[in-house]
Amino acid sequence: MNYLEALSRRYSVKKFNNQLIPQETLNNILESGKLSASSLGLQPYKIVIVGSEEMKQKLIPAFYNPSQISTCSHLIVIISKKTIEEHYIRGYFNHISEVRDTPLEELDPFKKSISQHITQKTPEEIFNWAEKQSYIVLANLMYAAAIENIDSCPMEGFRQDVIEEILNINSETEKVTVTLALGYRSEEDNFQHMKKVRKPNEKLFKFI
Ligand SMILES: Cc1cc2nc3c(=O)[nH]c(=O)nc-3n(C[C@H](O)[C@H](O)[C@H](O)COP(=O)(O)O)c2cc1C
Repeated sequence: MNYLEALSRRYSVKKFNNQLIPQETLNNILESGKLSASSLGLQPYKIVIVGSEEMKQKLIPAFYNPSQISTCSHLIVIISKKTIEEHYIRGYFNHISEVRDTPLEELDPFKKSISQHITQKTPEEIFNWAEKQSYIVLANLMYAAAIENIDSCPMEGFRQDVIEEILNINSETEKVTVTLALGYRSEEDNFQHMKKVRKPNEKLFKFI
């Protein structure tokens, strides 16, 4: 399937058919999340994959519309960091040094400039910045799923406090930003037959 066909076929599924995604396909989709670009490469998020029926059942009350979560194969939960601590930056540079076999001293100027950049931001700015990075992951996961012929529904319609309690999130340092249900569309989901509603090109694009 070419990418425009995949993106046209994709829609936000309201009801899945309970079929499970093969592990290898799921791994490929997750790899696209891992390969996402992030500002400064800091990946200020983590990705929780809910596959167990027990956990999905527990999470149903957290969603305003339970039909996706009760019928999907997997629910992906993207959690943003609210703070970027000095030790997190240190860990990032140790990792670069290890993966690229580069002495830490060589990376020091880059590390200093990142630390400086981060410490200049207010906590609110850090969180807004971190949250934006999560949406790049979301878009890549949705795109990869579409190419793999897997259906999805991005969802922000959940109760923050409930989902965070169930997933044992420390709300001082982390926040559930957005979720993505993955699976296969149900034949009963009428939304699959509806035309896409998008702004006309002249309202969306401006060529200068
Ligand atoms: C960040 C984000 C959050 C969304 N949250 C929900 C949601 O909570 N529930 C839902 O049914 N759809 C949700 N949607 C789906 C949108 O309503 C949908 O993408 C939009 O209407 C366009 O339709 P389409 O995705 O079917 O092409 C969300 C989409 C995005 C990108």
